[in-house]
Amino acid sequence: MRLPDRAGLALLALPACVAAAPAVTGPRARPLSYLSGHGERAYPVVGLTWGLMGISVVVVVVVAGLVLAGVLRRRVRGAATREVAVERRGNGLRWIWIGVGISLVPLIGSTVWTMQVLAAIGRPAAPPALTIEVTAQQWWWKLRYLDNDPSRTFLAANEIHIPVGQPVELRLRSPDVIHSFWVPALGGKMDVVPGQVNRIWLQAGEPGVYEGRCAEFCGMQHANMRLLLVAETQEAFRMWRDAQVAPAPPPATEQVAAGAAIFVNRCGACHTVRGTMAGGTVAPDLTHLMGRAGIAAETLRLNVATLSGWIADPQHIKPGTRMPNLNLSGPELQSLRSFLGTLR
Ligand code: CUA
Repeated sequence: MRLPDRAGLALLALPACVAAAPAVTGPRARPLSYLSGHGERAYPVVGLTWGLMGISVVVVVVVAGLVLAGVLRRRVRGAATREVAVERRGNGLRWIWIGVGISLVPLIGSTVWTMQVLAAIGRPAAPPALTIEVTAQQWWWKLRYLDNDPSRTFLAANEIHIPVGQPVELRLRSPDVIHSFWVPALGGKMDVVPGQVNRIWLQAGEPGVYEGRCAEFCGMQHANMRLLLVAETQEAFRMWRDAQVAPAPPPATEQVAAGAAIFVNRCGACHTVRGTMAGGTVAPDLTHLMGRAGIAAETLRLNVATLSGWIADPQHIKPGTRMPNLNLSGPELQSLRSFLGTLR
C-alpha cells in the first residue's frame, strides 16, 4: 500500500520529533528503557521481556522461512508442469495439526513463564518500608508520604524519593480520568483508575534517578505528565524526609515578604506552602519547591529562567494546563520569584 505523500512524510518525521523533545532532567536520570532493570521487582520482568522477545523473533523467522519455502517450491514446480494452483492429496489437514501442536509449545511456555513472573512480583519479600499515596492529576503527580505520626505526613509532587534496597508501596489514585503509572527501569507499571486504589510496590537496587511517565492517554498534556523516582541511601532519604516535613522559613527580607504576600493572594487558592496562609490543594505543594529538579511535571528543568517563564505564561509552555496566566507585573514577578527561591 502506498501512503499519501504527506502522511508518509509525517510518519518519517515522527522519530525525529520524539528525539528532539527537550531533555527532562539532564544526564543524571537513567533513560526511559524497559530493557534493563534496577531492582528486585524489575529483574524477573526484564528477564521475561527479553525471553518473550527472543521467542517472538524465533517464531517470526521460522514462519517466514516456511512461507518463503512454500512459495518458492510452488513456483519451481508450477513453472515446469503448469499444474493448477490447488491440489487435494488428502494430507493437508495433518500438517495443520502438526503446526498447531508445534505452536502450542512456545505459547504454553510463555504463558507459564508469565504466570510465574506475575506471582513472583505480586508481593515484596519484606513488608514495605514506606507507603506513598500517588494521585494522578491532569497532568502531574501528587505525592502524599504517609506516616503513623500524622505530623510527619507531607505532600510533594512529581519527584518520588525512596530509600534504596527497601520495598516501597504506592497507592495509586485518580480523581479525573484513567492514567497509568510507569517507571520502566524498576519494572513498575499500573493503571490509575478513578474510584479505586491500585497498589504497586517498587524497589530500587541501587541509588540513582529513574525516569517515569504516564503511560495512558489522559488528555492534552499526557506526554508532559512525567515523574522522577529518586532512589537514595537510607541516610540521605531520612535527611530528605526530615527536611520535607519542616514548614517554609519566615521571610528574611522585605522583598521576600512582599513575594510571600503575592503568593498567598494570587497562588494560595491552588498551591500550598506550609508555614504560610497559602493552603490550596488542587495544584502542587510548593513548600520545598527549590529542592526539585524540574517543574511542570518535569517538563522544564528548574532554574530562575524557567520558573519565571512558567509563571509568566504557563499556557504557552503547556497548553491546556490548569495553571492560569496571572498577568503579574515585572516587580511582582520579581518579588514572587525571590520568595519561591527561599523554599528549599
Ligand atoms: Cu496521565 Cu497520561
